[in-house]
Amino acid sequence: MPKHTHGNVLVVGSINMDVVTPIDQLPLPGETIMAGDVQLIAGGKGANAAVAAARLGGHVHMIGAVGDDAFGNTLKANLQNEGINCDRVAVIKDISSGTAVILLDKQSGQNSIMVSAGANAKVTEAKDESVYTWANVLMMQLETPVCVNVESAKRAKQAGITVILDPAPAISDLPDELFACCDILLPNETELATLTGMDTDSIPQVVAASKALLKRGSKHIIVTLGQRGAIWVTQDHNQHFTTMPVTPIDTTAAGDSFAGALAANLARGQSIPESIPFALAAGTLACTKLGAQPSIPTTDAVFAFINTSPQT
Ligand code: RIB
Repeated sequence: MPKHTHGNVLVVGSINMDVVTPIDQLPLPGETIMAGDVQLIAGGKGANAAVAAARLGGHVHMIGAVGDDAFGNTLKANLQNEGINCDRVAVIKDISSGTAVILLDKQSGQNSIMVSAGANAKVTEAKDESVYTWANVLMMQLETPVCVNVESAKRAKQAGITVILDPAPAISDLPDELFACCDILLPNETELATLTGMDTDSIPQVVAASKALLKRGSKHIIVTLGQRGAIWVTQDHNQHFTTMPVTPIDTTAAGDSFAGALAANLARGQSIPESIPFALAAGTLACTKLGAQPSIPTTDAVFAFINTSPQT
């Protein structure tokens, strides 16, 4: 594996085909509604973060799995076309590729997502150490088995690299040994509420819940807040970063773009406060286009967006 001195991001995560269905409003139980044209779009929280890290300057290696089916072939080829090393993306027989049904509200750009794990449930950790000694940053989410995340995080810690967990979709009973290995948690405010059982509506509530969560072991929490930006919280510090407002078309993969951008920047040696504005711009831009991976911006687009932002 070619060793770059920095910028190396290892992603352990899901790979899904998104079945994107535009609707005017969510159907009630028992109701049938007409939807707009369905589109099949490459997604999955892990794959989206991997694509973001690759488009935003990282060298990326992915650990994941797809089914031995048409979706799987397309999804793996897409990742390879982004320059992502897929040597450890398994192709598994007799199981479907991960699939997400996304109901997209045409007016607000907000979505409701139902994920069928398929092959993602069969992901196993890399047993050889070389991928962990190669990486500068390990990035994980929760659409692959938690036991794989725990094992990967332990190996990453032994190798001395930065471990980031985007706890999405949120699970309330994550093991302490996972938190203990994580340097940075990246929940949104809803996921933070699930993880802590605390209210997270206001900024002070978000800070209080983050401080409670920090007690479980991670060193930093960065809470993404949609149009309100993000808050970075440590035991003795918190800092709110704002973002420029946009008219959202589709918010899918905004959090994944933030995560991938953050991972790529940290892997290049930048600090957390240096990296958050870049990650926020990436996440915000992802809301301005339809779909998950097609909406993830390049480095040039992110810098152009930052340069048009009013200076405060
Ligand atoms: O975060 C967005 C992603 O969540 C979608 O691409 C979908 O596949 C689900 O994993």
